[in-house]
Amino acid sequence: MVPAKTFYIETFGCQMNAHDSEKVIGTLIARGYTRVETPEAAHLVLYNTCSIRDRAEQKVFTRLGNFKRDLGNGKVFGVLGCVAQQEGERIFERAPHVSLVAGSASYTRLPEMLVQLEAGNRRVTGLKLETNETFDTPLVRRDNPHRAYITIIEGCDKSCAYCVVPFTRGPERSRTSESVMAEARRLADQGFGEIQLLGQNVNSYRDPSAAAWDFATLLARVAEVTGIRRVRYTTSHPRDFVKAIVEAMDRNPVLCDHVHLPVQSGSTRILGAMDRLYTRDEYLARIELLKTAKRPYSITTDIIVGFPGETEEDFQQTLDLLDRVQFDALFSFKYSPRPNTAALAMPDAVPDEEKQRRLAIVQEKQRSIQIRRNAERIGAVEEVLVEGRNQALGQWIGRTTDNHILNFTHSDPAAENLLGRYLAVRVTRSGPNSLVGESTSVV
Ligand code: 5AD
Ligand code: SF4
Repeated sequence: MVPAKTFYIETFGCQMNAHDSEKVIGTLIARGYTRVETPEAAHLVLYNTCSIRDRAEQKVFTRLGNFKRDLGNGKVFGVLGCVAQQEGERIFERAPHVSLVAGSASYTRLPEMLVQLEAGNRRVTGLKLETNETFDTPLVRRDNPHRAYITIIEGCDKSCAYCVVPFTRGPERSRTSESVMAEARRLADQGFGEIQLLGQNVNSYRDPSAAAWDFATLLARVAEVTGIRRVRYTTSHPRDFVKAIVEAMDRNPVLCDHVHLPVQSGSTRILGAMDRLYTRDEYLARIELLKTAKRPYSITTDIIVGFPGETEEDFQQTLDLLDRVQFDALFSFKYSPRPNTAALAMPDAVPDEEKQRRLAIVQEKQRSIQIRRNAERIGAVEEVLVEGRNQALGQWIGRTTDNHILNFTHSDPAAENLLGRYLAVRVTRSGPNSLVGESTSVV
């Protein structure tokens, strides 16, 4: 038997989930639990799950399947996050060794749920979605010593026809600006140089307090906190991506030179069917705000291919949009039908081979765009935050303000530990997904 009050957690999905796990870990540690590195060594095994596409959802059931034989040997399994919210108590039927099923809107009740588990209750749930609460806890255990996430808004009030998120994360709830600012100042005092503001739709942020800040104001104020050198935010919805945001970024270079603005499709007809609340031209007008701004901004996006009814002509519109915008990176996905969503009932499903073909074409086009754009940077000197080390290659891994990975060597062999440092690096080579360079910064 492994010691009680040991836990293991594996996280799937987006940064919101990654940050939720940091809060869950902090809450468990505050209750006297110890984190262990393998599920075998743990008494409590938690999976913080993602259900954005079917493949993500299946992962947790594969993991749980590996432990069926543990039924009854005292280990306690918990499913957290989006699959938990979506499947609810059905998980107990499908995986009878699971004792806890809780969605992210219930994590403020985690201490109570732990008490129930500790008392031997084997059917503990947290599945309420109608909430005004955010999981706003001081007990966060942050993984990265240099970059810290801050949740500013949870949930989603949009209703994109393909998306489970409104069903798994509940209605939109913003944190007060006072609470966000207090956390930003605390993190700066603790030495975090980079802050990443998180939300399903960060730019729909609306301060619920009397101060009533909008997202652009919050961005500007966080960037002014002493000690903070970089501020990023993700994810933005194009409909709410207003000029004031670009103006705030233009005014203060602490706000990083990067915007992730998921377009999903280049066809106005498909955007309408997806209920995205903007047309192709409206999206391109948002891009124009960035292209005519005071600094060059890196723009990245998400694309779904094979949404029901997507014709070859619609698809060509997406390819044309990629040519026009010249994104710096792109995440592309085959449409995956999800429970509860409006698109489930839509006719004219695109066959899987056709989705696969379109996906390959998108990825190939984007690859050549990135090869060309990255090659243009050879010779430039860029500031990086050093995030890691590749011992095998003798390289340090840095990230530029516009979110490119720049792997580099340092001319001074005395440069022993550069992690967390900001250095100037000259770009010497480029590939489709990263840059390579040399730093001569004094260390
Ligand atoms: N099928 C495929 N991709 C999806 N995404 C969201 N829902 C689906 C789905 N049902 C993609 C979108 C979103 C990203 C996080 O995942 O592109 O921006
Ligand atoms: Fe996955 Fe979406 Fe849930 Fe994030 S919010 S974990 S992407 S389903």
